[in-house]
Amino acid sequence: MRHITIAGGRPLYGQIKIQGSKNAVLPVLTSCILGEGICRIENCPRISDVEVTLRLLESVGCRVIRRENMVAVDASQITCCRIPEREASCIRSSILFLGALTGRCRTASLPFPGGCAIGARPVDLHVASFEKLGVRFEGNRRIEADGRELCGAKVTLPFPSVGATENIILASVLAPGETLIQNAAREPEIDELCGFLNLRGAKTTRRKDGSIRIEGVRKLRPVSYSMKPDRIVAGTYLLAAAAAGGRIRLQGVSLSGLESLAAVLQRIGVQIREGNGSCELASDGRIQALPYLETAPYPGFPTDLQSPLLAVLAGAAGESLIREKIFENRFRVVPELVKMGAEIKTEKDCVKIYGNRHMHGADVMATDLRSGAALVAAGLAAPGTTKVGGLAYIERGYENICRDLRQLGADISLSDGSRKENPRKA
Ligand code: EPZ
Repeated sequence: MRHITIAGGRPLYGQIKIQGSKNAVLPVLTSCILGEGICRIENCPRISDVEVTLRLLESVGCRVIRRENMVAVDASQITCCRIPEREASCIRSSILFLGALTGRCRTASLPFPGGCAIGARPVDLHVASFEKLGVRFEGNRRIEADGRELCGAKVTLPFPSVGATENIILASVLAPGETLIQNAAREPEIDELCGFLNLRGAKTTRRKDGSIRIEGVRKLRPVSYSMKPDRIVAGTYLLAAAAAGGRIRLQGVSLSGLESLAAVLQRIGVQIREGNGSCELASDGRIQALPYLETAPYPGFPTDLQSPLLAVLAGAAGESLIREKIFENRFRVVPELVKMGAEIKTEKDCVKIYGNRHMHGADVMATDLRSGAALVAAGLAAPGTTKVGGLAYIERGYENICRDLRQLGADISLSDGSRKENPRKA
């Protein structure tokens, strides 16, 4: 079985560039459906969620060209508004085809989305918001949308859902009238999507109260755009270095979008600073416990960094408590960390971590994207050899975690499980 092998207990030193943002590029690529012509997206991460999205774009008639980290999407011809079950049901962001196809063609047919099994992840907020925009739904096995009456409206989200906010924007950009999204999600990826759409001629505005106003336009023009760095990948590596110790610099990354992580790193005794377009972390590997932290919508602590933080606190001196308030099943990394010597108790939406200095290498298995990254971080800090299986999860969001961490001095390699491991293999 393919797995990552880590010889842990060594500090990390060095600097790396951070890949383009997964959670920004997925809505940006999907939004290409909204207009004719060829959009060139640079710094597009080579991750499996992007590959699935490109295949879905082709299934509705887009022409797609990929050259390394550049993707060109030509959406001049949309020949089909029905996306196939198989691929759409393995990623969460396929739900965004609802907004893009309804916005462009006034109709959409898609399966319920997939994604990491971190909770039920319903789409009720998407459907309810679209009904406010005049979209009618039928059937219950798939999402069948009739957008012939699509029209801008005021939509108030009961919860600042990232995906629902993005979907409403996609449906509203070309809709007649004006849409106002109240209690919209504030994640930076949404403002990057709006920036891309405005470059194309859309009229979206983030207002002072956090709401988003979209004035419908008649058409969009094709543009070239380069994705910003992935703040969750950056945060993952910062946490890994905090636990392993050492000094790392992330080129092209500012702490904007990671303010809550920077505050947590200070609280656990790790130095973090930014300047000259990069951020730098120094740690002696001795982590202080965190009496209490809860995840929250941006600008709160991101749920996507909860598992990597949990892995770091497992080796801290003292007791920490984390409350996961976004997803109801996001502690699946716990049993795997316990195999590495962690002492953790889960109770409803909280985990109590009795940090100790006896973490050690073990054979562990990723159960979702961020739990996989968390196990790699734990393996870097824990003395001994750690083997992490379930790579398909990690490869959904990390372009090449072994390449990145090896550049920071980690003894880490990918083995396909069949032949003798070659620790220096690429
Ligand atoms: C996006 O998921 C991200 N995925 C997630 O990242 C991220 O964890 C999440 O936002 C929160 O920041 C992408 O951008 C592709 P939500 P999304 O709608 O849009 C509930 C990663 O690891 N909800 O803000 O699905 C939902 O069940 C992934 O990169 C409803 O109840 O998140 C959850 O409890 C994981 N009904 C909460 O809201 C709905 O209709 C947050 O969901 C929609 C959501």
